[in-house]
Amino acid sequence: MTHAKAPGKIILFGEHAVVYGQPALAVPVKDFFAEAEVLDINRAGIWISAPDIGLHEELSRLASENPLATLVEAVFSTLGINSPPSGGCEAVSSPDTRRTEWGRKLDAKNGIEIKITSTIPIASGLGSGAAVSVAIIRALSAYLSSPLDDEKVNEIAYKVEKIHHGTPSGIDNTVVTYGKPIFFIKDNPIELLEVATPFTLLIADTGIPAPTKKSVADVLKLWEQNPKKMNALFAAAGSIAKTARQAIEGGHPERLGALMNENHRILQELDVSCQALDYLTEASLNAGALGAKLSGGGRGGNMIALSTKENAPAIAEALYIAGAKKVILTEVR
Ligand code: MEV
Repeated sequence: MTHAKAPGKIILFGEHAVVYGQPALAVPVKDFFAEAEVLDINRAGIWISAPDIGLHEELSRLASENPLATLVEAVFSTLGINSPPSGGCEAVSSPDTRRTEWGRKLDAKNGIEIKITSTIPIASGLGSGAAVSVAIIRALSAYLSSPLDDEKVNEIAYKVEKIHHGTPSGIDNTVVTYGKPIFFIKDNPIELLEVATPFTLLIADTGIPAPTKKSVADVLKLWEQNPKKMNALFAAAGSIAKTARQAIEGGHPERLGALMNENHRILQELDVSCQALDYLTEASLNAGALGAKLSGGGRGGNMIALSTKENAPAIAEALYIAGAKKVILTEVR
């Protein structure tokens, strides 16, 4: 059996604008995570089970555009295994040692089960899809005796993100793969973010599923209608992300509050906020948060609020009273 874990994530600054080449900041959230196990089973085929969503299916029976099927097949092809053995389980014959070993492992009686569990709420802007992908890629490649490096893991996870989100920037899979705070610009080499002074964030869930694929597509429609205005909004978000990086690396996290409020206003203009997100944001500010904004695709999912350690419990209570379904306190370091 092999097993791997991957954290959730939050976007601190720059969501949506990052799709258009602007910088954004994201951090892993290790308070919740996805986990994948690969087990030998006495049954033919490659079985994928995700008890949380009621899935238990043989790979060849999943639609080819299914993200999990795409993922498993991408791991095989990256490792040079062109056609993973199916339920029929013809042994793979190849001069390549890895393939031969793999072929030996599977026959009509023996297969594998890839079991996925996750504590990350689905469709909440917390990177659940990316974390599931990264955990599976790591567990499966380790099971096949060829653990993939971060760069390859990230590349495969990005491929699957495109199925989930249409035209993603790649920020989610990158922060989840590297498990460290990042300053991210699409198609540029990854830059790690040095957090000079740790800070406290509350993450509050509206309980409304975040339709990221749709909100990303809707922002594109707005951009097509008015590129000049939209480019100015994206640039403003990008410059907030740059200033926020200086505050984080310079040891002034208290400066992030005003930047978060400003970024939230931009996201409202991009039409990706919603009543519940605005309500939670207001409630946290009224309870003493230093700043607050939605995080991720928006129109549901989660918001984040910056707090001192001392004020955090009072803000959490205010968020629950305002209707948050769940509030998590996390330390960014
Ligand atoms: C989703 O977590 C972040 C978005 O900016 C989309 C993306 O970057 O792919 C909304």
